[in-house]
Amino acid sequence: MLDQDRSLSLMQVGAGTPMGELLRRYWTPIAAVSEFDDKNTKPVRLFGENLVLYKDLSGTWGMLDRHCPHRRADLSYGYVEEHGLRCNYHGWLFGETGTCLAQPYEDVEDPSGKLRKTIHVKNYPVKELSGLLWVYMGPLPAPELPVWEPFTWQNGFVQISFSEIPCNWLQCQENSIDPVHFEWMHSNWSIRLGGQTGPYIPTHTKVGFNEFEYGFQYKRIREDTNDQDPLWTVGRVCLWPNCLFTGEHFEWRVPIDDHNTLSVGWFFTRVPKDKEPYVQEKIPHWYAPIKDEKTGRWITTHVMNQDFVAWVGQGTMSDRPNEHLGRSDRGVAMVRQRLLDEIERVKRGEDPKATVRDPEIAKHIDLPIVGKEYFKNGLPSEVIRGSNAPFAHGMKRFPFLCEQPQSIKKEFEDATGFRLTDATY
Ligand code: FES
Ligand SMILES: [Fe+2]
Repeated sequence: MLDQDRSLSLMQVGAGTPMGELLRRYWTPIAAVSEFDDKNTKPVRLFGENLVLYKDLSGTWGMLDRHCPHRRADLSYGYVEEHGLRCNYHGWLFGETGTCLAQPYEDVEDPSGKLRKTIHVKNYPVKELSGLLWVYMGPLPAPELPVWEPFTWQNGFVQISFSEIPCNWLQCQENSIDPVHFEWMHSNWSIRLGGQTGPYIPTHTKVGFNEFEYGFQYKRIREDTNDQDPLWTVGRVCLWPNCLFTGEHFEWRVPIDDHNTLSVGWFFTRVPKDKEPYVQEKIPHWYAPIKDEKTGRWITTHVMNQDFVAWVGQGTMSDRPNEHLGRSDRGVAMVRQRLLDEIERVKRGEDPKATVRDPEIAKHIDLPIVGKEYFKNGLPSEVIRGSNAPFAHGMKRFPFLCEQPQSIKKEFEDATGFRLTDATY
């Protein structure tokens, strides 16, 4: 059981808080590159800070304080120039390193730029990788941005999703090391939501957890499997510090502030061998709703939506002193302890777990992946059609989130040659 003080120290992410300082040591995905097809600026709230993300006319990304240092106008309504973002109130212009490049009227009266040279806007570095925009908000120099193995795979259809979840990030991440919930919250609940009363799926008989360099693996044996099953020998990954990685998709739990989390999904579908070569020109994204506006209840039809129901149901900030952890929660306890230990490491001035400083290592980082050969090499369409493997389910319906846009569905169907149904379960 976690006492109130330690629970709070794991949840609070504002600047200067222990957890805020730890999480700022990592590159965080915050938006999709394709969001900037039809706009140049985007207001962002991250770790409790109000910011603006922009792409200037020369293609440079920047992340600045939301408020102009002149008289505090909202820079997300500013307009970009060849270099930099210009405030729409009096035209001050800022570069991505926070310098003030122009103050149109002041520059007339004082060409020496005395005031301009004193101005510096809070700014953070931004990088583009695999259709996502990543920001680093910790002390410089920034570590390398890790290129996780799936980002290097070829012949894949990738899509990105965002959902805003009104609760703290930690209870979302604790779900990343929770094997037993699959049985009840996804498989069996879906059977019940679909109107059946059973039979329920084979139950878990053993779970295991172990730590590795980039996170934790969680493993399971069910009544119908044994210790030769890849979900025991390889398992799934709780990717450090705030991500779930299941082999073909990532789900980051990005802290907006102490009470809100941005769920960022990155999904890879290997196209069948007979559809190779496939090169995706642009990675599409969408914002998935989480509430059924007709009933005011949370949406329950898709896998991640079901997870969201658990997270928000735990309260805005989960009341950990009133939990009763069991043997299935050993992984949750391990992650909490690791977070507490890494907070101490940061306090000592050290790099925390999974910091990558070597560019050679960062270029390609392998992860434990069930079915890795399939994602790398693919299979013919007819083999996929006849398969009952988990990857084959994703060729029938997008299982993770509701309201996938028709345009993305169509792109997927064109790329894979498979038709998706709109079935709910
Ligand atoms: S408030 Fe931004 S230029 Fe005046
Ligand atoms: Fe889940």
